[in-house]
Amino acid sequence: MKTEAVILAAGLGTRMKSDVPKVIHPLGGRPMITWTVAASREATGRDPFVVIGPDSEEVKRAAGEGINFIEQKERLGTGHAVLQAASQLRGQCDQVLVVHADLPLLRSETMQRLIDMQERNPGPLTLLVAHSGVSRGFGRILRDAEGRVVGIIEEAHATPEQLEGHELNVGTYCYEADWLWDHLSELPLSPKGEYYLTDLVAMAVKEGGEVAVAMLEDMEEVIGINTREHLAQAETALRRRVNRHWMLAGVSILDPASTYIGPDVQLGKDTVLLPNTHLWGRTVIGEVCHLGPNTIVRDSVIGDRCKVEISVLEEVTLESDVEVGPFAHLRTGTYLGQGVHIGNFGEVKNSTLGAGVKVGHFSYVGDATIGENANIGAGTVTCNFDGERKHRTEIGPGAFIGSDTMLVAPVRVGREAHTGAGAVVTKDVPERGVAVGVPARVIRKVK
Ligand code: UD1
Ligand code: CA
Repeated sequence: MKTEAVILAAGLGTRMKSDVPKVIHPLGGRPMITWTVAASREATGRDPFVVIGPDSEEVKRAAGEGINFIEQKERLGTGHAVLQAASQLRGQCDQVLVVHADLPLLRSETMQRLIDMQERNPGPLTLLVAHSGVSRGFGRILRDAEGRVVGIIEEAHATPEQLEGHELNVGTYCYEADWLWDHLSELPLSPKGEYYLTDLVAMAVKEGGEVAVAMLEDMEEVIGINTREHLAQAETALRRRVNRHWMLAGVSILDPASTYIGPDVQLGKDTVLLPNTHLWGRTVIGEVCHLGPNTIVRDSVIGDRCKVEISVLEEVTLESDVEVGPFAHLRTGTYLGQGVHIGNFGEVKNSTLGAGVKVGHFSYVGDATIGENANIGAGTVTCNFDGERKHRTEIGPGAFIGSDTMLVAPVRVGREAHTGAGAVVTKDVPERGVAVGVPARVIRKVK
C-alpha cells in the first residue's frame, strides 16, 4: 500500500511568544520541523507534504530539500489544514499519515506502527493514543460504556468529568485516503470557529466504521511543543536519546546531562566525553579521544587518540594524536598534522601545521604554513594583517621560533632556522640561519 505523509505546520504558535515561526525554533541543533520530516520520510519511504501558512518563506528554507509544500491561506484549524492537501493527493495514494510538526520526538517506528495497523484495519482510521496523568493541553479520547472509542474532545471544550480522562490524543493519525478526502469537507465548525481534524473520529463511529487505536509506549515521544518550556523539555529528552545511542555504540559520557551531541555528529568507540562538551554540525571524532571538559567543536574532523581540553574548535581538521588546550581557539581552515601540540592560549586560523609542530603557549598563528617539527615559542604572533590585506607566513620544518617573535607577513623562515627572543622579523630568514633584534637582522648564515 502506498502511504503519503501530511505534516501540519501552518499554525501560528502564538504560545511561543516569538517572531520566529514555532516549527523552525532550533531543537537539538536543527530546526524543529526537520525531525518530523526525517521521521515521516523514513516511515513512508517518500517525501512528505507539509502544510504551511501564508508568508512562510523561512519555514520553507528551514525544512530542507525535497518537500512538497501546500499553503493554507487561512488558519481555520487542523481539519482545514489537511483538506488543503486534497487537490494534490486525491487518487494518488491508499493511505494518508497525518503528523503535527510540533511533535518532533515522535519516532519513525511509531509512525510505521500506525501505518501497519491501518493497513489491517477494515475501518477508515487509526489514531495514536498516550496514557498520562499530565495532559499538556492535549485532547481527551472519549469511550462509551463498552470501551469503544467514540470521539475526541479538546481540553478547552471538555466537561470536568471528561478532563479526568487520562487517554490523550497525540495528534498522529493514519487514514484510508478516499474516506479522508470525502469526509474532510463535511467537518462541522467547532465552538472556536475552526474545523477540527479530531472530529473525524466521531464521524467514523457514526457511520459504523472501526477506529483502531495504537498505544504509545515511550512517553518521551509525546513532548509536543506549544511553549518554550516544552521546547526545553524536548531538548533534554532528545539529548538523553542521542547520548544513549552513543553510549550503546561505545562512547563514554561522564555526565550525559551536560553533554550536547548534534544529530549529524559521528563518534568513534572508546572516546570519552567530559562534562560540558558540545559537538555540533558535521563533526566527526575518531576513536579513543578525550574531549572536554568545557569544549565546543563545530563542523570539524578529529582523528584518533586526540585530546582537547577547555577549547573551541570551528571548521578544523586534526590528524591523530593531537593535543589541544587548555584554552585554545582553533578557527576555520586550521589543519593540524599528526602529533601537533597546541598549548594554552593558542589561536590558529587558516593555517597548516605539519606533524609534530609545537605551539606551547600564548600564540597567534594566522594564514601560515608551518613545516614538520617546528617549535613555536611562547608569545609568537604572525602579524598577518597590514590594515588592508592578509598575508602569509611560511616557517620551514624544524625551525625554532624564539619566544615573543613577531613575524611580519608576508615573510618566510627557512628550514631549521632560528629567531631570537623578541625578534621582529620583517625579512626572510634563510635556511638554518639565525635572526635577532628589532627589526631582526640575520647574524648567522649557513652555506
Ligand atoms: C491538537 C489537537 C489535540 C491534540 C494536540 C496534540 C485538534 C483540534 N486538536 O491540539 O486533540 O491533543 O494537537 O498534538 O486537532 N495547524 C495548521 N493549521 C491550522 C491549525 C493548526 O497547520 O489552522 C498545525 C499546527 O502548526 C500544529 C498542528 O496543526 O503543528 C496542531 O495545531 P495546534 O494549534 O498546536 O493544536 P493543539 O491545540 O496542540
Ligand atoms: Ca500542539
